[in-house]
Amino acid sequence: MAKTIALYSIKGGVGKTAATVNLAHAAAVAGHATLICDLDPQGAASYYFRVRPARKFGRKKLLQGGKEVEKNIKGTDYELLDILPAAFSYRKLDLSLGDTDSRKALKEIFRRLTGDYDYIFLDCPPNITLVSENIFRAADYVVVPCIPTTLSTLTLTKLLDFFAAEKLDRRKIIPFFSMVETRKRLHREVMGELAGASEYRFLQNPIPYLAEIERMGLTRAPVAAGFAGSPAARAYRELWNELARLITVG
Ligand SMILES: Nc1ncnc2c1ncn2[C@@H]1O[C@H](COP(=O)(O)OP(=O)(O)O)[C@@H](O)[C@H]1O
Ligand SMILES: [Mg+2]
Repeated sequence: MAKTIALYSIKGGVGKTAATVNLAHAAAVAGHATLICDLDPQGAASYYFRVRPARKFGRKKLLQGGKEVEKNIKGTDYELLDILPAAFSYRKLDLSLGDTDSRKALKEIFRRLTGDYDYIFLDCPPNITLVSENIFRAADYVVVPCIPTTLSTLTLTKLLDFFAAEKLDRRKIIPFFSMVETRKRLHREVMGELAGASEYRFLQNPIPYLAEIERMGLTRAPVAAGFAGSPAARAYRELWNELARLITVG
């Protein structure tokens, strides 16, 4: 049975897609059958893998699940790594989910795929919507990139409150520090404060702010596909190892 890992934040531009692409690639390199489901209508993860959905694939097919979804899973240039590309019509996924009146629709859909993979990564759009609520129920883990500023802590607290209010399992939430610039005093201070705070459970390995990661828009490849020994490749690999250990231990 695959473990489902959602990369999620209320905020955009915090490194969700970068983490999805690079952690999923690290999982595949480590020998695990891995699937990325690009759930963001902007399709950034799909773009990085140079993959597009079939013209007929969209939110309705996604919600039909089963064969309609399996048919649209594509291979990538990397062994053991597949992707279900996002369709632009996902921007109205909220409406369709409203019709089905189900907060577990996505959970059912991904459950069908878990036999074929060890890990399923969900690259999520920002905001708290019916889609995100569905994602929270579908995912075993909700991994949250946090830029170490005061505001990002606030959004993390909001997410924890939302989980409590909706009676979701808060233990699913696993934050990590993203786009860290240690020369910035604020970053150092916020990390110092939060790293040990037991209510947040931050992963120990941060992802630094690195031009190499920014350049993925040009290279359109996971960072470790270029040079596996680069600082960015190493940072994601170490983050993945830590996360994988945590998942295995439970
Ligand atoms: N650690 C990082 N260092 C430098 N640039 C980054 C880093 N993480 C992400 N970026 C860049 O910042 C932008 C937003 O990142 P992205 O992963 O798309 O965020 P999100 O999916 O949360 O909207 C992208 O251009 C990406 O290449
Ligand atoms: Mg994104």
